[in-house]
Amino acid sequence: MLRHVLNIGDLPTKELNQILSVASSIAANPSIYGEVAKGKILATLFFEPSTRTRLSFESAMLRLGGAVLGFSDAAVSSTVKGETPEDTASTVSCYCDVIATRHPTAFTPHKMASVASVPVINAGDGANEHPTQTLTDLVTIHERFGRVDNLTIGLCGDLKYGRTVHSLIKMLSRYPGNRFVLIAPQALQMPEEIIGMLDENKVPYTISDSLDQAMPQLDVLYMTRIQGERFQDKVQYRALRGIFVLDNEKLRHAKKDMIILHPLPRVDEIATEVDADERAWYFKQAQFGVYARMALIMQLLGLIRQGKDGESACAPCCLEISA
Ligand code: CP
Repeated sequence: MLRHVLNIGDLPTKELNQILSVASSIAANPSIYGEVAKGKILATLFFEPSTRTRLSFESAMLRLGGAVLGFSDAAVSSTVKGETPEDTASTVSCYCDVIATRHPTAFTPHKMASVASVPVINAGDGANEHPTQTLTDLVTIHERFGRVDNLTIGLCGDLKYGRTVHSLIKMLSRYPGNRFVLIAPQALQMPEEIIGMLDENKVPYTISDSLDQAMPQLDVLYMTRIQGERFQDKVQYRALRGIFVLDNEKLRHAKKDMIILHPLPRVDEIATEVDADERAWYFKQAQFGVYARMALIMQLLGLIRQGKDGESACAPCCLEISA
């Protein structure tokens, strides 16, 4: 059956746990997955700039033994001649087995999926969602703590326009014992609909505009950049940029075993001096993004088989399948 991953809600918790388990297995021994997707093709259709998401998708498919094609700039596609994203998706479906796409307008990947004949993965749509970043974040938290529950997670920065935090809070809310500290100026706080979701599901959270006050309680500090490109009012953007800057002084009040995550790119919200701190996990996070996407591609292409005990099967069975 054709499966798309457009919202984080498209991944049931059981399936997500399976992806975490396979990603963990890949992280421990990536080389044995080297031929799992041999003969398969991933298309990356990026209508908006990217470093990590596009390249980690491509790295993931190449590390699975598959091939990649696509574009990183719509200006070199027939978009400039008036082709719609839907027609692009219908066409590229003929050339590949799975599509990963990013678009500046929310819900465009959903429209593409409605006509595609291969699975479509949303690699970021406007300010809406970024489901595979959330997979990346969860794999990273899982690798660090061995669990994704019973944690206090601080989300700091642009919670209004930052699509990564929208997907992340929805997903982490599913796990028991998690609580959130939403650290942002009022103008950039979490959208009402997400606050409503937390209230409805009785997920504990506090709202703060002080990183210093929040810091001592956090297990995970998730920093985000102020999303300048999404502001209508550039004066407001200039007033808010640089409002939170994590540096070594601020970290003096953090737990010794806290981790710092950031979807990247960073602008100025984490001082480069922090990179040497062992709690800085944002470049490891970029590495885990490859394993998360390898596991997701395997899932969508039917390359993960259920074990007899209901647990996901990993490398040896996958290799059997691909043989
Ligand atoms: N985290 C993330 O989405 O980075 P890119 O914009 O570089 O893909």
